[in-house]
Amino acid sequence: MNRKYRKTLIAGNWKMNKTPSETKEFMLAFKGLIPKGRWCDIALCVPAVCIPAAVRVMRETRVGIGAENCNANPSGAYTGEISTDMLVDAGCKYVIIGHSERRAMGETDQDVNQKTKAALAAGLVPIVCCGESLEQRESLVTEEWITMQIKYALEGIEADQVRKSVIAYEPIWAIGTGRTATPEQAEYGSKISRATTILYGGSMNDKNAEELLAQPDIDGGLIGGASLVPEKFLKIIEAANQDA
Ligand code: PGA
Repeated sequence: MNRKYRKTLIAGNWKMNKTPSETKEFMLAFKGLIPKGRWCDIALCVPAVCIPAAVRVMRETRVGIGAENCNANPSGAYTGEISTDMLVDAGCKYVIIGHSERRAMGETDQDVNQKTKAALAAGLVPIVCCGESLEQRESLVTEEWITMQIKYALEGIEADQVRKSVIAYEPIWAIGTGRTATPEQAEYGSKISRATTILYGGSMNDKNAEELLAQPDIDGGLIGGASLVPEKFLKIIEAANQDA
């Protein structure tokens, strides 16, 4: 972490887990655990139907609620989709864009770029995901691949807007596998990370967070499985509050 130049952010990605009732239960339990004092930024990105319950409980706390996806169009005939203005009106501060699980469902680099622009225009903080497959890592093309994904995602976006965005580097082979990148692998290039907050994601948990977050160019985490249990998520936040 490098708090001098960039914000520290610990963000949960619930994926397709928890109902609105379970969300309320989690938020009440988690709210009771958050100690007072100087804390990093905290986000919980939850399924769309859980956003109202999460926002209601977390109002007046420093936990920002986020969505896991958005549509880039302002409104119209897009059955089942949710616009960035709708997310803002529902109380969201963040939105995850281009997660590898969504890319696997057909989301393209162009979609990611359009969604990032729409999120920034609406005043949301986009958490833009990138990451290589195991095959790409083994073929030694990781760096080119990630550079290209980020270049596409941020194309046409002004530098001051890029600074408001968050990049999440999530090697696909590390997501939900219990296999984390080494701290050195997880520390994605200082070139883009000088001004933009970079998160690491992929099996980050209460046990390995401290070591991963000790890297100067990892400014936080995007956490799946371990964000579903209040005590585990809290431990990761505590690890982010170590002196950097
Ligand atoms: P994981 O998921 O922490 O369960 O590996 C991370 C993510 O996909 O964002």
